[in-house]
Amino acid sequence: MQIDILTTFPHFFDSMLSTSILGRAIQSGLLNITCTDIRDYSASKHKNTDDYPFGGGAGMLMMPQPASDAIKAVKNSGFENAKVIYMSPQGIPFTQSLARKLSTEQQLIFLCGHYEGIDQRVIDKYVDLEISIGDYVLTGGELASMVVIDCVSRLIPGVLGSEESVLEESFSDGLLEYPQYTRPRVFEDMEVPEVLLSGDHAKIAAWRKEQALLVTGKKRPDLLNREA
Ligand code: ADE
Repeated sequence: MQIDILTTFPHFFDSMLSTSILGRAIQSGLLNITCTDIRDYSASKHKNTDDYPFGGGAGMLMMPQPASDAIKAVKNSGFENAKVIYMSPQGIPFTQSLARKLSTEQQLIFLCGHYEGIDQRVIDKYVDLEISIGDYVLTGGELASMVVIDCVSRLIPGVLGSEESVLEESFSDGLLEYPQYTRPRVFEDMEVPEVLLSGDHAKIAAWRKEQALLVTGKKRPDLLNREA
Protein backbone atom coordinates (compact mmCIF):
# COMPACT_ATOMS: atom_id res chain seq x y z
CA MET A 1 0.00 0.00 0.00
CA GLN A 2 1.11 3.52 -0.78
CA ILE A 3 0.30 6.12 1.88
CA ASP A 4 0.94 9.83 1.40
CA ILE A 5 0.75 12.15 4.36
CA LEU A 6 0.29 15.85 3.68
CA THR A 7 1.24 17.88 6.73
CA THR A 8 2.90 21.09 7.86
CA PHE A 9 4.82 19.01 10.45
CA PRO A 10 6.47 16.16 8.49
CA HIS A 11 8.94 15.34 11.29
CA PHE A 12 6.06 14.41 13.54
CA PHE A 13 6.04 11.05 11.76
CA ASP A 14 9.75 10.20 11.98
CA SER A 15 9.62 7.74 14.87
CA MET A 16 6.44 6.02 13.71
CA LEU A 17 7.94 5.37 10.29
CA SER A 18 11.20 3.97 11.57
CA THR A 19 10.05 1.97 14.59
CA SER A 20 8.65 -1.48 15.29
CA ILE A 21 6.03 -3.12 13.09
CA LEU A 22 5.49 -0.20 10.73
CA GLY A 23 9.22 0.35 10.33
CA ARG A 24 9.60 -3.33 9.42
CA ALA A 25 6.68 -3.21 6.97
CA ILE A 26 8.27 -0.23 5.24
CA GLN A 27 11.67 -1.93 5.14
CA SER A 28 10.15 -5.04 3.61
CA GLY A 29 8.27 -3.04 0.96
CA LEU A 30 4.75 -4.01 2.08
CA LEU A 31 4.12 -0.39 2.86
CA ASN A 32 5.44 2.79 1.33
CA ILE A 33 4.77 5.98 3.28
CA THR A 34 5.74 9.42 1.99
CA CYS A 35 5.44 12.60 4.05
CA THR A 36 4.98 15.80 2.09
CA ASP A 37 5.40 19.23 3.65
CA ILE A 38 2.40 21.31 2.58
CA ARG A 39 4.55 24.42 3.13
CA ASP A 40 6.67 23.43 0.12
CA TYR A 41 3.59 24.07 -2.05
CA SER A 42 2.81 27.52 -0.69
CA ALA A 43 2.89 30.09 -3.46
CA SER A 44 3.31 32.97 -1.00
CA LYS A 45 6.64 34.75 -0.57
CA HIS A 46 7.07 33.61 3.04
CA LYS A 47 5.69 30.10 2.43
CA ASN A 48 2.65 30.77 4.61
CA THR A 49 0.08 28.03 5.01
CA ASP A 50 -2.46 29.77 7.27
CA ASP A 51 -4.51 32.96 7.31
CA TYR A 52 -7.26 34.72 9.27
CA PRO A 53 -10.82 33.41 8.85
CA PHE A 54 -13.30 35.54 6.89
CA GLY A 55 -16.00 36.79 9.23
CA GLY A 56 -13.62 36.88 12.18
CA GLY A 57 -13.22 34.43 15.00
CA ALA A 58 -10.40 32.92 16.99
CA GLY A 59 -7.31 31.37 15.48
CA MET A 60 -5.99 30.80 11.99
CA LEU A 61 -7.16 28.60 9.15
CA MET A 62 -5.14 26.59 6.67
CA MET A 63 -5.23 28.33 3.30
CA PRO A 64 -6.69 26.40 0.37
CA GLN A 65 -3.86 26.96 -2.14
CA PRO A 66 -0.95 25.08 -0.50
CA ALA A 67 -3.07 22.09 0.56
CA SER A 68 -4.89 21.72 -2.75
CA ASP A 69 -1.64 22.04 -4.73
CA ALA A 70 -0.04 19.38 -2.51
CA ILE A 71 -3.00 17.04 -3.11
CA LYS A 72 -2.84 17.64 -6.87
CA ALA A 73 0.91 17.02 -6.93
CA VAL A 74 0.57 13.68 -5.15
CA LYS A 75 -2.33 12.60 -7.37
CA ASN A 76 -0.43 13.62 -10.50
CA SER A 77 2.56 11.52 -9.47
CA GLY A 78 0.64 8.37 -10.43
CA PHE A 79 -1.96 8.18 -7.68
CA GLU A 80 -4.98 9.67 -9.48
CA ASN A 81 -7.35 7.20 -7.84
CA ALA A 82 -6.06 7.54 -4.29
CA LYS A 83 -8.73 8.33 -1.70
CA VAL A 84 -8.09 11.63 0.10
CA ILE A 85 -8.81 11.40 3.82
CA TYR A 86 -9.13 14.51 5.97
CA MET A 87 -8.73 13.99 9.71
CA SER A 88 -11.14 16.11 11.73
CA PRO A 89 -13.45 15.89 14.75
CA GLN A 90 -16.35 16.36 12.30
CA GLY A 91 -15.56 13.14 10.42
CA ILE A 92 -17.23 9.76 10.62
CA PRO A 93 -16.09 7.82 13.70
CA PHE A 94 -13.07 5.59 13.06
CA THR A 95 -13.78 1.92 13.81
CA GLN A 96 -12.12 -1.43 13.22
CA SER A 97 -14.55 -2.12 10.39
CA LEU A 98 -13.55 1.13 8.64
CA ALA A 99 -9.89 0.15 9.18
CA ARG A 100 -10.62 -3.17 7.46
CA LYS A 101 -12.20 -1.39 4.48
CA LEU A 102 -9.29 1.04 4.14
CA SER A 103 -6.76 -1.80 4.34
CA THR A 104 -7.97 -3.06 0.95
CA GLU A 105 -7.11 0.21 -0.82
CA GLN A 106 -3.95 0.47 -2.93
CA GLN A 107 -3.26 4.13 -2.11
CA LEU A 108 -4.40 6.57 0.55
CA ILE A 109 -3.67 10.27 0.99
CA PHE A 110 -3.99 11.74 4.49
CA LEU A 111 -4.50 15.48 4.78
CA CYS A 112 -3.62 16.72 8.25
CA GLY A 113 -5.30 19.96 9.27
CA HIS A 114 -3.86 22.36 11.81
CA TYR A 115 -4.76 25.61 13.51
CA GLU A 116 -8.55 25.95 13.53
CA GLY A 117 -8.94 23.67 10.51
CA ILE A 118 -8.82 24.17 6.78
CA ASP A 119 -10.72 26.25 4.23
CA GLN A 120 -13.97 24.36 3.57
CA ARG A 121 -13.49 24.52 -0.21
CA VAL A 122 -10.56 22.08 0.01
CA ILE A 123 -12.76 19.59 1.84
CA ASP A 124 -15.66 20.09 -0.57
CA LYS A 125 -13.57 19.64 -3.70
CA TYR A 126 -10.75 17.24 -2.82
CA VAL A 127 -11.67 15.15 0.21
CA ASP A 128 -13.32 11.74 -0.23
CA LEU A 129 -13.59 10.80 3.42
CA GLU A 130 -13.50 12.83 6.64
CA ILE A 131 -12.56 10.72 9.66
CA SER A 132 -12.63 11.46 13.41
CA ILE A 133 -10.80 9.31 15.93
CA GLY A 134 -13.07 10.42 18.78
CA ASP A 135 -15.19 13.14 20.29
CA TYR A 136 -12.34 15.36 21.46
CA VAL A 137 -10.17 17.98 19.79
CA LEU A 138 -6.47 17.47 19.06
CA THR A 139 -4.09 20.26 18.08
CA GLY A 140 -3.87 18.84 14.57
CA GLY A 141 -4.62 15.89 12.33
CA GLU A 142 -1.14 14.35 12.63
CA LEU A 143 -1.78 12.21 15.71
CA ALA A 144 -5.19 11.22 14.36
CA SER A 145 -3.78 10.14 11.01
CA MET A 146 -1.08 8.14 12.82
CA VAL A 147 -3.78 6.26 14.68
CA VAL A 148 -5.58 5.43 11.43
CA ILE A 149 -2.37 4.52 9.58
CA ASP A 150 -1.24 2.27 12.42
CA CYS A 151 -4.59 0.40 12.55
CA VAL A 152 -4.87 0.06 8.78
CA SER A 153 -1.25 -1.02 8.24
CA ARG A 154 -1.38 -3.93 10.66
CA LEU A 155 -4.32 -5.37 8.70
CA ILE A 156 -2.34 -5.59 5.46
CA PRO A 157 -1.45 -9.25 4.90
CA GLY A 158 2.14 -9.92 5.95
CA VAL A 159 2.60 -6.83 8.13
CA LEU A 160 2.03 -8.72 11.38
CA GLY A 161 3.99 -11.87 12.02
CA SER A 162 0.90 -14.00 12.55
CA GLU A 163 -2.36 -13.63 10.61
CA GLU A 164 -4.17 -15.32 13.48
CA SER A 165 -3.56 -12.44 15.82
CA VAL A 166 -5.65 -10.27 13.51
CA LEU A 167 -8.42 -12.86 13.26
CA GLU A 168 -8.78 -13.36 16.99
CA GLU A 169 -8.23 -9.89 18.40
CA SER A 170 -10.71 -7.45 19.89
CA PHE A 171 -13.45 -6.23 17.50
CA SER A 172 -12.66 -8.86 14.86
CA ASP A 173 -16.03 -10.49 15.60
CA GLY A 174 -17.62 -7.44 17.21
CA LEU A 175 -16.47 -8.52 20.69
CA LEU A 176 -13.60 -7.57 22.96
CA GLU A 177 -10.84 -10.12 23.31
CA TYR A 178 -10.85 -12.90 25.92
CA PRO A 179 -8.22 -12.75 28.70
CA GLN A 180 -4.80 -14.19 27.87
CA TYR A 181 -2.10 -15.70 30.07
CA THR A 182 1.53 -16.73 29.70
CA ARG A 183 4.06 -18.36 32.02
CA PRO A 184 4.34 -18.83 34.95
CA ARG A 185 1.27 -20.96 35.73
CA VAL A 186 1.03 -19.32 39.15
CA PHE A 187 1.88 -15.65 39.60
CA GLU A 188 1.51 -13.99 43.01
CA ASP A 189 -0.92 -16.74 44.06
CA MET A 190 -3.05 -16.27 40.92
CA GLU A 191 -3.47 -19.34 38.73
CA VAL A 192 -3.95 -19.58 35.00
CA PRO A 193 -7.50 -20.91 34.29
CA GLU A 194 -7.32 -24.71 34.25
CA VAL A 195 -9.03 -25.11 30.89
CA LEU A 196 -6.11 -23.39 29.10
CA LEU A 197 -3.78 -26.13 30.32
CA SER A 198 -6.11 -28.95 29.26
CA GLY A 199 -4.92 -29.28 25.66
CA ASP A 200 -8.59 -29.65 24.61
CA HIS A 201 -8.84 -27.17 21.74
CA ALA A 202 -12.63 -27.28 21.41
CA LYS A 203 -13.04 -26.64 25.13
CA ILE A 204 -10.52 -23.81 25.02
CA ALA A 205 -12.29 -22.21 22.05
CA ALA A 206 -15.66 -22.45 23.86
CA TRP A 207 -14.17 -20.91 27.02
CA ARG A 208 -12.63 -18.07 25.06
CA LYS A 209 -15.90 -17.30 23.28
CA GLU A 210 -17.73 -17.28 26.60
CA GLN A 211 -15.09 -15.01 28.16
CA ALA A 212 -15.20 -12.63 25.18
CA LEU A 213 -18.97 -12.31 25.64
CA LEU A 214 -18.59 -11.79 29.40
CA VAL A 215 -15.83 -9.18 29.04
CA THR A 216 -17.77 -7.32 26.34
CA GLY A 217 -20.98 -7.37 28.37
CA LYS A 218 -19.14 -6.03 31.40
CA LYS A 219 -16.87 -3.42 29.78
CA ARG A 220 -18.67 -2.43 26.57
CA PRO A 221 -22.29 -3.61 26.60
CA ASP A 222 -23.01 -1.19 23.73
CA LEU A 223 -20.97 -3.45 21.42
CA LEU A 224 -23.33 -6.40 21.94
CA ASN A 225 -26.18 -4.54 20.27
CA ARG A 226 -24.14 -3.11 17.43
CA GLU A 227 -23.72 -4.40 13.90
CA ALA A 228 -20.16 -5.57 13.23
N1 ADE B 1 -8.08 16.67 14.47
C1 ADE B 1 -8.31 17.28 15.64
N2 ADE B 1 -9.06 16.51 16.43
C2 ADE B 1 -9.32 15.36 15.75
C3 ADE B 1 -10.04 14.19 16.02
N3 ADE B 1 -10.68 14.00 17.17
N4 ADE B 1 -10.08 13.23 15.08
C4 ADE B 1 -9.47 13.42 13.90
N5 ADE B 1 -8.77 14.51 13.57
C5 ADE B 1 -8.69 15.48 14.49
